[in-house]
Amino acid sequence: MRNRRRKSNSKRGLDGTRILLIVTGGIAAYKSVFLVRLLKRSGAEVRVVMSEAATRFIAPLTFEVLSENPVSSDLFASRESPVVGHVELATWADRAIVAPATADFIAKAALGLADDLASTVFLAARCPRHFAPSMNTGMWKNPAVRRNIDTLQGDGCLFVDPGAGGLACGESGTGRMAEPETIVKAIETSLGPGELEGVRFLVTAGRTEESIDPVRYISNRSSGRMGFAIATEARRRGARVTLIHGPVDVPPPNADSIRRVTTAAEMKTAVRRAFPGCDVLVMAAAVADFTPVKRAGSKVKRNSGAVSIELKATGDILASLAEKKNKTQVVIGFALETENAEANVLKKIKAKRCDYMVLNMTGEGTGFSVPTNQVTIYRGPRKILSTSIVTKEEAASAILDRIASDGRIKQARQ
Ligand SMILES: Cc1cc2nc3c(=O)[nH]c(=O)nc-3n(C[C@H](O)[C@H](O)[C@H](O)COP(=O)(O)O)c2cc1C
Repeated sequence: MRNRRRKSNSKRGLDGTRILLIVTGGIAAYKSVFLVRLLKRSGAEVRVVMSEAATRFIAPLTFEVLSENPVSSDLFASRESPVVGHVELATWADRAIVAPATADFIAKAALGLADDLASTVFLAARCPRHFAPSMNTGMWKNPAVRRNIDTLQGDGCLFVDPGAGGLACGESGTGRMAEPETIVKAIETSLGPGELEGVRFLVTAGRTEESIDPVRYISNRSSGRMGFAIATEARRRGARVTLIHGPVDVPPPNADSIRRVTTAAEMKTAVRRAFPGCDVLVMAAAVADFTPVKRAGSKVKRNSGAVSIELKATGDILASLAEKKNKTQVVIGFALETENAEANVLKKIKAKRCDYMVLNMTGEGTGFSVPTNQVTIYRGPRKILSTSIVTKEEAASAILDRIASDGRIKQARQ
C-alpha cells in the first residue's frame, strides 16, 4: 500500500516557539539544565547563550547536548565558528529568558550595558523577555536590585520571582530560583492563545511522482519547504494542522495529523477526504499537472529509436473542491509561473474559486528547491502583498499575517 499514515504528534504548550535561554553566573545554573529539558519537552526550539561566569558553574557542553544546538558565550567568536552571531540570535528568538538571572546581569540589563555576548543579545532582542532571578536574600532585598527590577519591569520585562527556602550560601530566605516547571508555565501563560487557536488547517506540501514504469517517474523540484513552513507557522499560532505531503527533501514538521502520499491521484483523494473537516485549505503542494496515460508493467528498454510517453492531465484538486466548499471555508492556492504571471494567476483564481492565491516565480532565490522565496499574495483579483526574497519561514509568516485577519478565520477561532 502506498499511502502511509504517520503517527501524529499531539500539540504541546510551546510547540515551535523559539526560546533563547541566557544563563548567567549563579549557583542555580544547574537548574537551567532541567529547564532546557522541559522547554524541549514542551515543544520549544532552544538556543543557549552563557555569560563567562556561567561557564564556571556548568560546562557549555551540557547545554549543547540538551538543546541540540551550539552554545555561545564569546561575543568575539571567530566568524568561521558554527556559533550564530548575536544579532541573528536576537532576531531568531520568539522569547528570551534569563535563568538564572544574577544581580549583576539584572543591573547590566537595567542600564542597557552590552559588554559581553549575553548582555548584547539581551539588549538586541525585540521579543518579550523574562527573568528568573536567583541570588542571596541580602542581594534580593538590596534597594539597588529592587530599583533595577522596577526599571526592567517598566520596560516590559516579565519576572518569575524567586521562591523562599534554604539557599546555597547556607542562609534561608527569598532568593532561590523558581523551579523550571514554574518558569515553563510562566512562558506558556505569557504566550496566551494564538491568533489561530483551534482553527483547523489542511496544508499540502511537496511534490507528486507519476510512474512511467516500475523504476521511473515524472515529477518536479518542489522540496516541501514552503508547505512545511506554513504548517509550522500555523501550528505556532495555535492552529490544528493536518498535513498531507508527497515526496520531499526535508523532514516533515510536527503536525496534529500527517499523511504521506505519492501520486497526484492519491493527493486528490486524501485532500478531498480531509477537506470537509477543515476551516482553511492551503494547497502548497506542487501536484503534477500530467501523468502517463499508461504505466508500463516492466522497465521500458532502451532501443535505438525515440521513445514517446503519452501524457494526460491529472485531476485539478482545487477546481474539484469548488462545489464542495462552504461559505465559511477559506481556500488558498499556490501558483508557480515562469511568464505572464499576473494574467495567469488571475485566471487561476477565477477558475479554481480560490479566496487567496500565492504566486511564486521561478528565478534565483525563489520557487522550488531553495530555502528562500519571493511571494505575491492575491485576495481575489486584488494584490495584497508582495515580498522581497525572504526565507520560506518569513514568507509563511507574511501569508498567515494576511489571512489571520480574514473574518471567516476569526469566526473559526475557538
Ligand atoms: C559560588 C558562587 C555562587 C554565586 N551565586 C550567585 C547567585 O546565585 N546570584 C548572583 O546574583 N550572583 C552569584 N554569584 C556571583 C556572580 O557569579 C558574579 O556576580 C558574576 O560576576 C556574575 O556574572 P554574570 O552576571 O556575567 O553571569 C555567585 C558567585 C559564586 C562564586
